[in-house]
Amino acid sequence: MNILTIENLRKTYRTGAEELDVLQGLNLAVEEGTTAAITGESGCGKSTLLNLIAGIDSVSAGIIRCGAFQVEKLSEEELTGYRSGVIGLIFQFHFLLKDFTALENVMIPSFITGAGKAEAEAKAASLLEKVGLSGRTHHYPGQLSGGERQRVAVARALINDPLLILADEPTGNLDENNSLMVQNLLFSLVGELGKTMVLITHDRSFSSRADRVLLLERGTLKSL
Ligand SMILES: Nc1ncnc2c1ncn2[C@@H]1O[C@H](COP(=O)(O)OP(=O)(O)OP(=O)(O)O)[C@@H](O)[C@H]1O
Ligand SMILES: [Mg+2]
Repeated sequence: MNILTIENLRKTYRTGAEELDVLQGLNLAVEEGTTAAITGESGCGKSTLLNLIAGIDSVSAGIIRCGAFQVEKLSEEELTGYRSGVIGLIFQFHFLLKDFTALENVMIPSFITGAGKAEAEAKAASLLEKVGLSGRTHHYPGQLSGGERQRVAVARALINDPLLILADEPTGNLDENNSLMVQNLLFSLVGELGKTMVLITHDRSFSSRADRVLLLERGTLKSL
């Protein structure tokens, strides 16, 4: 069964009189429990594609199905539930809230989907343990290292048990050791939890760990 199906996806950006056709009839199917890595040169549209799947940006044409959702047809209200309940997002920058502890940051998405506090706290603590941060739960982002912050972001992406994990250069800001740690963590958690993931990375050793590697070029994907 496919968790994600994309058909004939087009995205054109208009800036003043200029038009940029970033995605030009892109197709993609990702089967449940598999991982796909997407590579391609800077500016080819990788983040654009991920943002469209996540419902952060709107398509120009085409269909995006994720689980039972047809993303381009969702209302703003439905999109909020989709983004926080169905998708687990990890970006290059962690986007943790600085006035909240690691534990609270991991818990936040579960409040959006209406989980109870005790349940959310227990789950967040267990995820922080899985990412090796059980000793850092009450630290604020400013008291954590870059690698630790990104591990908190990984735990946060998993709190609502997402159908699909979307990661956009999740190790792009990390040094080699921290990068390796986050790569190992991500793939071991995805394997352990049987998750489906679309990963964007320039790093060949990282992308080679995915079940498939795809190249985004001239607005469409091809297998590598
Ligand atoms: N909101 C926008 N308005 C206009 N053009 C945009 C917008 N967002 C992105 N673009 C352009 O669309 C193209 C694709 O951008 P995108 O961010 O998807 O690239 P990318 O493959 O993620 O690159 P990188 O590897 O550098 O992160 C770029 O040429 C970019 O300048
Ligand atoms: Mg990008």
